[in-house]
Amino acid sequence: MPEDPSDPDVEARRRAETALAAGDPSGWFEPLYAAAEAGDAVLPWFRGEPCLELAAWARDNPGDGKRALVVGCGMGDDAELLAESGYDTAAFDVSPSAIKAVLNRFPDTRVAYRTADLLDPPPEWRHAFDLVVEILTVQSLPKNVRGTAIGSVSGFVAPGGLALVSAVAEESIDLTTWAGPPWPLNGAEVESFARDGVAARSLDRIRDGRRWWAEFTREA
Ligand SMILES: C[S@@+](CC[C@H](N)C(=O)[O-])C[C@H]1O[C@@H](n2cnc3c(N)ncnc32)[C@H](O)[C@@H]1O
Repeated sequence: MPEDPSDPDVEARRRAETALAAGDPSGWFEPLYAAAEAGDAVLPWFRGEPCLELAAWARDNPGDGKRALVVGCGMGDDAELLAESGYDTAAFDVSPSAIKAVLNRFPDTRVAYRTADLLDPPPEWRHAFDLVVEILTVQSLPKNVRGTAIGSVSGFVAPGGLALVSAVAEESIDLTTWAGPPWPLNGAEVESFARDGVAARSLDRIRDGRRWWAEFTREA
């Protein structure tokens, strides 16, 4: 069946192809968020609510003032959830329009939102967060920068801290017909968040095997 050019996933793929050809793996997000803000595009990942598994996890793990960082925060639902759960929460996205949109959505937020690049994050974030949440951002970057992205996520975790990682499982898709984005993560890639003093606590396939949910800790 021919692709529907108005399908948000097809449109995202077209934008990604152009950015990747220009050597800018994250370069399609800002124009997409700006177009969405103008009502000219749809964000394929936006659900208007936090990740289900994160919401369940946060119910059992209140923050009590611990420092949390949300990677690629998009429209902010996961960051808002953590702030409501008692975490002193920072969140970032590469797209200034995403941060603008999130501040419009949550004008009274307690979250410290900012633009930053996972591929070149602020050095002061190294080993600085008790909780790091990475949901569907690493998979939105092509495989050739995956090691850098994963290294950044693990590097944010403070001694005694925890990283939560969720991604579509590459094992659940037919790679022969798949055209990213996203570029789902395989088991070896998920395991590779365990590096430089960070160890895996659990790696699970959830949602009938379609997603990875993994937890990593850095020794205190
Ligand atoms: C698929 S969306 C997921 C958004 C959000 N985590 C969620 O689960 O709804 C990927 C997000 O990562 C952001 N992103 C892409 N490349 C990035 C980078 N290099 N640094 C920071 N954020 C990035 C995008 O702007 C987008 O908001």
